Amino acid sequence: MRLKGKTAIVTGGGRGIGKEIAIRFAEEGADVVVADIDTIGAKETASEIEKKGVRIIPLEIDISQSDQVNRMIETTVKEFGKVDILVNNAVYIKKMPFLEFSEDEWNRIMNVCLNGYFLCSQMAAREMIKQGRGRIINIATLAAAIAHAGLSAYAVAKAGVIAMTKLIGIELHKYNINVNAIAPGPIETPLMKKVMERFSGEKKMPGMGVIGKPQDVAHVALFLASDDSAYIYGNVLSVGGGFIGEGIMPEK
Ligand SMILES: NC(=O)c1ccc[n+]([C@@H]2O[C@H](COP(=O)([O-])OP(=O)(O)OC[C@H]3O[C@@H](n4cnc5c(N)ncnc54)[C@H](O)[C@@H]3O)[C@@H](O)[C@H]2O)c1
Repeated sequence: MRLKGKTAIVTGGGRGIGKEIAIRFAEEGADVVVADIDTIGAKETASEIEKKGVRIIPLEIDISQSDQVNRMIETTVKEFGKVDILVNNAVYIKKMPFLEFSEDEWNRIMNVCLNGYFLCSQMAAREMIKQGRGRIINIATLAAAIAHAGLSAYAVAKAGVIAMTKLIGIELHKYNINVNAIAPGPIETPLMKKVMERFSGEKKMPGMGVIGKPQDVAHVALFLASDDSAYIYGNVLSVGGGFIGEGIMPEK
């Protein structure tokens, strides 16, 4: 039990990668707050975690709203007494040509994928400082480093998350808070479903033909949440199979 006695908040834990991280943490003994804008998804994750014998709170939270993030932190402290681990995982994504982006759509992606990560990290870190220890794990993407047409706002926001990880990784380490990021390649989730359909006619997929599973990311998140990663902070770990080596994603 690598997280026994710890409390974790997983944003976007209602499905996909976040759900798997929440389950993996619970299997290792953590009490978990599943925060998601989709209350049904959050409750479904919670009902799976309940079987693991830990405490679990599903919360309907929009991470782009500071009052709601504040409520998420307050509820965690009230119910569990502390915040040990924050996983910033929630995502809002829109694929469209750069020239067609409206200001509203651009801002919405920034507000969830970058500003929301800032709000959650800052409010959680203030609690972690009180207890003298913490772990913040930002889920970024390899798409922040490799250009995919149509993902400009998402890639820019996540590149900002990577920069924030490096910066606050250094700033917060003196409080014994480790901040790291995971940059996944293609992972089989509802978000990726449509993208994967584009691969169906291809003989060869990126990453030596392998699409990752949410569990592949969850295992690395567990490592970063645990004491095993004590000397790792301000870093970005890639979880993308051969994706980086191969580079480009097929256009259709
Ligand atoms: N799936 C991939 O191939 C892939 C690749 C690289 C990076 N990622 C990253 O992994 C993370 C998880 O991706 P996924 O594929 O599981 O996505 P997903 O779309 O399957 O799940 C995202 C979850 O976030 C929730 N959410 C959306 N907006 C929110 C908000 N404002 N506040 C709170 N919750 C909100 C959704 O309701 C959903 O439950 C994301 O940060 C994504 O950028 C995924």
